[in-house]
Amino acid sequence: MSDPFLSLPDLETHIWDRLARGAATSRDPFRFVTLATQGTDGPEARMVGFRRADRVAAEIEIHSDLRTAKVRALDVDDRATILLWDPATEVQIRLMVTLRLVSSEAGRWARIPDVARLNYGTNPAPGTPVEAPERVTRTPDISRFCALVGAVRSMDVLSLAHTPHRRARFVGGHGEWIAP
Ligand SMILES: Cc1cc2nc3c(=O)[nH]c(=O)nc-3n(C[C@H](O)[C@H](O)[C@H](O)COP(=O)(O)O)c2cc1C
Repeated sequence: MSDPFLSLPDLETHIWDRLARGAATSRDPFRFVTLATQGTDGPEARMVGFRRADRVAAEIEIHSDLRTAKVRALDVDDRATILLWDPATEVQIRLMVTLRLVSSEAGRWARIPDVARLNYGTNPAPGTPVEAPERVTRTPDISRFCALVGAVRSMDVLSLAHTPHRRARFVGGHGEWIAP
């Protein structure tokens, strides 16, 4: 594969291609990513599945249970960062996004396999103290399912595979090289 870090237009195309592949491929390093939000007690981060990347709409998507702390945090501050790392190519990508909540949408729910739907029906609600871990049950429930659709405000990409390291930033389709 040719080096995508030789030109800014190639690099932007490469990033979106890689994001889309990550969202579609179960063993891809971009299949699971870190989502960081502003919680009431400070920054919070957790792993999430990366569900969709759409260059034309400049959107990404993740799914969650409506009752989780991250969804409550987004009520207060809808800005978030998604962090990705590919150890094979030594590339880090950071996506600065604004997340919009789409709750209980039937079209998305229809595309989720039965086994994955169990993730959106934990009883009691995620984060609730329980007397014993085996007391937790799971019932698929569309009313607890939400998509977090992220409008990508900017992207920051860093390659450790180059000497010196190469880093670029893209804001609203405009790219520039920056010092790593
Ligand atoms: C590999 C992996 C994938 C995960 N995928 C998701 C996901 O797609 N959506 C989600 O809400 N939580 C997912 N989780 C669980 C979250 O990391 C987290 O524990 C949970 O959502 C509660 O987070 P919160 O209290 O910060 O909202 C995943 C965890 C792991 C380890």
